[in-house]
Amino acid sequence: MRITLSVIKADVGSIDGHLKPSAELVKAVKEHIQQKGKELIIDFYLTTTGDDVALLLTHTQGKDSEKIHKLAWDAFLAGTKVARKQGLYGAGQDLLADSFSGNVKGLGPAVAELEFEERENEPFLLFAADKTDPGAYNLPLYLGFADPMYNSGLILSPKMSKGFKFTVIDVNCTTADRVIELNVPEDLYDLASLLRDNERYVIESISSRNTGEPAAAASTCRLRNIAGKYVGKDDPVMLIRVQGEFPAAGEVLAPYSIGHYVAGFMRGSHTGPLMPVTSRSATSFFDGPPLVSCLGFCVREGRLTEPVDCFDHPFWDYVREKVSRKSLELREQGFSGPAMLPYAELEYGGIVEKMKMLEPRFRLRKK
Ligand code: 13P
Ligand code: 13P
Ligand code: MG
Ligand code: MG
Repeated sequence: MRITLSVIKADVGSIDGHLKPSAELVKAVKEHIQQKGKELIIDFYLTTTGDDVALLLTHTQGKDSEKIHKLAWDAFLAGTKVARKQGLYGAGQDLLADSFSGNVKGLGPAVAELEFEERENEPFLLFAADKTDPGAYNLPLYLGFADPMYNSGLILSPKMSKGFKFTVIDVNCTTADRVIELNVPEDLYDLASLLRDNERYVIESISSRNTGEPAAAASTCRLRNIAGKYVGKDDPVMLIRVQGEFPAAGEVLAPYSIGHYVAGFMRGSHTGPLMPVTSRSATSFFDGPPLVSCLGFCVREGRLTEPVDCFDHPFWDYVREKVSRKSLELREQGFSGPAMLPYAELEYGGIVEKMKMLEPRFRLRKK
């Protein structure tokens, strides 16, 4: 059966600033999908990561379906209503447009979609991150799909012998989608040259070169480019099919043991290590550290199994301790140097005003 997996995520309000949505908000979003989605979707699952609510919807409407996107948008509006009623912080934060028009892309919510003919067994992973931007997935995707140091299947499985095709998008180009396709292993160094710059070049999708089948899709929207100012971090979602011609689930997960430094953290303006957490974790220390959760499912004729919470395992407790240490080490230097993001990333916030104010106070010293 040909199905589409859509994950659509938004922050429409949370308790105590940007820590976690309320149970009542989550209930309102869920009930909206249950009631209004009956005829449209086959199955769904709702999860939260930090202050973000992610909706996984299975259906046969294809990618970019207006009906599916509107269902999610309206569900987030229902959540926003509760957020206002409860006095939650940032009610409707990620709904940047006054009304829905055709597709949630460009309106604020993050979206990632995969459309495919179901295999005999169809396992996949749903990632959701908080307090970071889409570039956070660049390194783990590179290592999980293109590096035999992490993906042993590139050596051991004939089903992956030809490697993968990466589609990378230049998120700084706002007039149109500026994309490039690179094939690994041949283009490996070119891919690395782009992915070095996580704030500009972001992996949008990956497909198998053995079968042509879609393997991964990630959200790439940058809220600052939509709003023109800082309104919250992008907090990207991602779907990855695993096993067979794709990496094993464990190969995709392995790079998250690094706790690599990403952009985000407090006020979306700092550098912090990405901490793998269980789903529905709240955000905490310094509005972070940047978080990533992962749920594993199988799907059959659009029906989902219960999820496996992939980072809910003693191994990841050890990683979380390491990431906590890495967080503290960089936080010790506060605003200085690499602890805070470079000016180009900050210029969507209040610092522009400060710089303007200081400008006339500079003087050129006479020789
Ligand atoms: P597949 O080759 O079926 O994906 O299985 C590999 C495996 O189980 C790796 O752990
Ligand atoms: P969110 O993007 O998760 O709402 O976080 C915003 C922020 O500025 C936290 O300090
Ligand atoms: Mg928020
Ligand atoms: Mg968030």
